[in-house]
Amino acid sequence: MPGSRFPRRTESGLADSIALMSELNLILLGPPGAGKGTQAERLQEDFPLAYIATGDMLRAAVAEGTELGRKAKEHMDRGDLVPDDVIIGVILDRVEGDDARDGFLLDGFPRTIGQAEALEAELRKLGRKLTAVLLIEAPDEEIIRRLSGRRVSKSGRVYHVDHDPPKHADRCDIDGSPLVQRKDDKPETIRKRLDVYHRQTAPLVAYYDERGLLRRFDGTRSPTEVHDHVRATIATLRLEDEL
Ligand code: AP5
Repeated sequence: MPGSRFPRRTESGLADSIALMSELNLILLGPPGAGKGTQAERLQEDFPLAYIATGDMLRAAVAEGTELGRKAKEHMDRGDLVPDDVIIGVILDRVEGDDARDGFLLDGFPRTIGQAEALEAELRKLGRKLTAVLLIEAPDEEIIRRLSGRRVSKSGRVYHVDHDPPKHADRCDIDGSPLVQRKDDKPETIRKRLDVYHRQTAPLVAYYDERGLLRRFDGTRSPTEVHDHVRATIATLRLEDEL
């Protein structure tokens, strides 16, 4: 039944078996700096999905000084993950939000097996399913090079000092705001984040592979090549669903 909607909650397993595939429920997975945010920006132009970026939400909470921000800040500054009990409820609420009814693009969640299990249970409760997990891969040396050169503007536009510089030095092309380096993009914190990724997040690759959801992308290709590949994969998934 492409295009139709499902009841949001179900007590039985019925909705599970008929879960709507034309509803795109996607996860972007990959090490820090693999290009998840870069691809998310492009994918939002292709598909009208609710974009749920945990890192952006947490940084906004820190900037606003909310309770979530206060709980998250020290972990983020160190390059550690924010504890599961702090983050899971916040993200599941967003997945249940009205704007995510027809699909979502999760960037930065889940990051632990515990988070993945919580998401799976929540989606089952809602009679929904994941469509695919898009894994963007890049080796550690490339990530260190990328993150050390990353600069961001107030509006969140991401640049790289060498291969995606702004037109005017240190100023955003869109809003003219000064470009800054994220606190966690300092070399020692990048190494910590990579270590955390390999220990706590990489096990999700096997987790989603076993469930037949994993799609791999070579993140060392140019942003346009990665985007073309991701877009073609999503189009194929939709076609398969409609057959
Ligand atoms: P978050 O903001 O999610 O950071 P991350 O996953 O480490 O990812 P990044 O934003 O650093 O990288 P990206 O893959 O989006 O790369 P980008 O496109 O910018 O999380 C930050 C922190 O929040 C975590 O450390 C943790 O503390 C906390 N947190 C978040 N989620 C959590 C959760 N679920 N549980 C617990 N804690 C959580 O690209 C990087 C650079 O490379 C840019 O300069 C870009 O221009 C360049 N680039 C991109 N693509 C290419 C390409 N193909 N070729 C060349 N350069 C490229």
